[in-house]
Amino acid sequence: MKDKVAIVTGGARGIGRTICLRFADSGAKVIACDLDEEGLASLPSEAKGRECTGSIEVHTLNVTVPSAVDQFVDRIVEAHERIDILVNNAGITRDGLLMNMEDDQFDAVLKTNLYSVFYLTRAVVRTMVRQRYGRIVNIASVSGVMGNPGQVNYSASKAGVIGFTKSLAKEIGRRKVTCNAVAPGFIATAMTDALPGEVKEGAKKLIPLARLGEPDEVAAAVEFLASDGASYITGQVLVVDGGMYMY
Ligand code: NAI
Repeated sequence: MKDKVAIVTGGARGIGRTICLRFADSGAKVIACDLDEEGLASLPSEAKGRECTGSIEVHTLNVTVPSAVDQFVDRIVEAHERIDILVNNAGITRDGLLMNMEDDQFDAVLKTNLYSVFYLTRAVVRTMVRQRYGRIVNIASVSGVMGNPGQVNYSASKAGVIGFTKSLAKEIGRRKVTCNAVAPGFIATAMTDALPGEVKEGAKKLIPLARLGEPDEVAAAVEFLASDGASYITGQVLVVDGGMYMY
């Protein structure tokens, strides 16, 4: 990871924040972007406090706005001259049963979870192809593989991310750029805090490891796929869910 330039979306909190810190611990130059300015503001000092060998710079960005994404990526390329790693992590849920689901509930989830992957990756991939090196890691979800009641919008977005990952892996493999997905199960973050207690207890019964996962357990899988050690892995979905879903 030393000196690798790594963009992480949704880096202000949860899994994204943990990925940023883990990458910085391993010596990467991390560029964290998020809508949440307050969350971002404390990230560089947290990295310094851990005596990371890398660094973290932060940028406010709404990943659903393609013009803002293009400008952001242009600025990063101008400043750093390369982009080695892109982690598309920003995501939201707007759960509800299909029969009650409003258009904007569906649109917001698709825009944030799937369109953002398209916008960011399109903006970054040219640089990766030119440098004949790149690691793209998309954060999907087991919901996108096995489905989940109350999440037709979310599951559709994450299944879309998986299809996107596989097609892009086939497009850019010859240029030495890999594209993989990590599909977390239930991970202890603000996203799952919002779930009712009985849903979390019910989930634990389905998980062979009988507990929720920690953000760092997802970050470890992301770091592996983003590392040189994963040079012969592309188009894959690495499930990090305590064994809840087995292919
Ligand atoms: P979180 O809600 O704690 O963090 C998500 C981050 O994304 C927040 O900092 C938020 O401000 C940012 N974000 C949201 N919309 C944005 C936008 N338009 N532009 C820029 N930033 C934006 O969520 P968590 O749990 O850390 O999830 C991270 C990823 O992992 C998401 O893609 C989520 O779908 C996925 N995931 C999470 C699971 C879990 O159990 N927590 C399970 C499976 C997947």
